[in-house]
Formats: sequence, C-alpha cells, structure tokens
Amino acid sequence: MKVLSSPEDIYAQLDFARRHGKRIGLVPTMGALHDGHLSLVREAKRECEIAVTTVFVNPSQFGPNEDFAKYPRTLDSDLEKLASVGCDFVFVPSKDHMYPLGHSTFVEPPAVAANWEGKIRPGHFRGVTTIVLKLFNMLPAQVAYFGRKDYQQVAVISAMVRDLNVPILVQSCETIREPDGLAMSSRNRYLSATERVRALGLWHALSQAQSMIDDGQRSVSRIESAMNEVLEKAPVDSIDYAAIVDPDTMEQRSDLDSPAVAIIAVRVGTTRLIDNSLLQVQ
Ligand code: PAJ
Repeated sequence: MKVLSSPEDIYAQLDFARRHGKRIGLVPTMGALHDGHLSLVREAKRECEIAVTTVFVNPSQFGPNEDFAKYPRTLDSDLEKLASVGCDFVFVPSKDHMYPLGHSTFVEPPAVAANWEGKIRPGHFRGVTTIVLKLFNMLPAQVAYFGRKDYQQVAVISAMVRDLNVPILVQSCETIREPDGLAMSSRNRYLSATERVRALGLWHALSQAQSMIDDGQRSVSRIESAMNEVLEKAPVDSIDYAAIVDPDTMEQRSDLDSPAVAIIAVRVGTTRLIDNSLLQVQ
C-alpha cells in the first residue's frame, strides 16, 4: 500500500495505471475509519483492480460552530485498517495541497442540497461538492464509492456529477451498522455510555416507521409523528428533522404511493447524528 500526500505523485501513479487498462475505484473519507468506511474499500476492491482511499478532514464543509478542530484524527490506525483490506493507495494531502493560498473557486451545490442537511448546515454541501470535485479531478478514477449512511450527500454528489458532466460513476453502498442497529459513524466515539444507549433512538424510530408500514399504515404524517415520539422517548436532546422524503429529489413526501426514504438528524448530548432508511412499501 502506497501512502502519498503530493497531488502530482498520486496523479502520476494513477494515470500510469489507468493508461495500462486498470480500473480504479476511489473512496473519499475524512479518516477515523470504521467498518462502514472499510466496506466501501472492499467494494472498490471487488469491482476494480486498484482501490484508492483519501483521508482529508475538509475544513470547508464544517460550519464555524461545528467540530472541525476536534474531529478525530487517527491516521496510524486508519492506515493499518486500510492495509488490512487490501487498499492500494492512500492519498493524505495537507490543507495547503487542497486549498493553496489564493484558492477561491467553489462549486454551487445542486437543488437537492437545499433542504435538510443543507438548510441546517449552511455551506456544508458547498464544501462537500468542492472537495469531492477536486478529488475527482486529482485522482483519475472510473468509479467513486459513497455510503448511503449520508443519504443526501450521495444525492448531491450524483446530481453534481450529472450536471457538470464529470466522467466518473458514483456508486452508493449500504449503511453498515453495529449489531444493535446504530449506524457506524466516526462521531459515535464522542458518545458517553449513556448517550450511546440513547443514540439507539434513531434506529428504533426508523424501525418503527417500517413496522407501521408493514402493518398497513399509509399516512406520512402519522408515521412522522411516531418517529418523533420514539426519538423523544429515547430521549435524544434535540431533533433537527425526522421526515419521509422522495429518494431522488429529497422533497417532503405526502403519500407512500412511490418509493420513499425516512431521514433523521438529532443531537445526543453535543453529538449530532444522522441516519436513514429506504422504506419498503408493498
Ligand atoms: P466521512 O464521514 O469520513 O465518510 C466517508 C464515506 O464513508 C462517506 O461516503 C460516508 O457515507 C461513508 N460512511 C460513513 N459511515 C458509513 C456507514 N456506517 N456505512 C457505510 N458507509 C459509511 O462523508 C465524508 O467523510 C465527507 O463528506 C467526504 C465525502 C469525504 C468529503 O469530505
């Protein structure tokens, strides 16, 4: 496994491989890796000859009152984990590599970024689309892997790739969970033991939505109320949203006549957690 920090070096290596007919799979991350991230690398290895993972805590996607400074940075153990799943290249750029002095161009995010995370975290998706497009340009991969754990993020990146004709295939991969249902997240390590128990409210609320549908409930507002009740009982400390939306446009749904996804964002203690689930309606 080669670990590189210079954009020129990694481009040269990947360009060489690509010219020799190799399929390259890219997995962008911010590090603090867990099995959710590693599942993306495994998928890249399954479909491509070369897997490249990037580790960069991107300052431009954090708001002024968010956790950029204290975001976990665990590079040594990240590299061990990546080696253990057969990752071929790791790109670990510095802030100056990604945002050299004078950097002033940003991507205007697509319409699907307007609500939910986009509304609650102003500027977040502008930072995400900008860094992801930069990585796509720096690392000539044919396929990029993202987790459905960040459902809106995948929708935003897919729309950007479509709208800006970026020559890369975006693959979304399933959410990896702890045995009790909590979605794996780098931020789970902030949770105290009691907060960890309360954080299960997200999974319980998503399960509640599905089981109401299985029992024949078709009223979106009743299901959303029930999700909120489960979260309040957990209890979580605040609810940013618990909603049922269109899987493509992320617009609020008023019925369940076509596919829908339940999305949740809450705070447990000071930790913000998100989760979602595609609803199965017979
Ligand atoms: P990060 O939070 O490190 O996540 C990197 C990738 O791992 C994302 O595609 C995310 O959806 C995926 N992921 C996280 N938890 C997962 C889980 N439990 N199961 C499956 N996949 C999971 O998302 C980012 O970084 C950044 O915004 C980034 C795209 C790297 C741009 O800076």
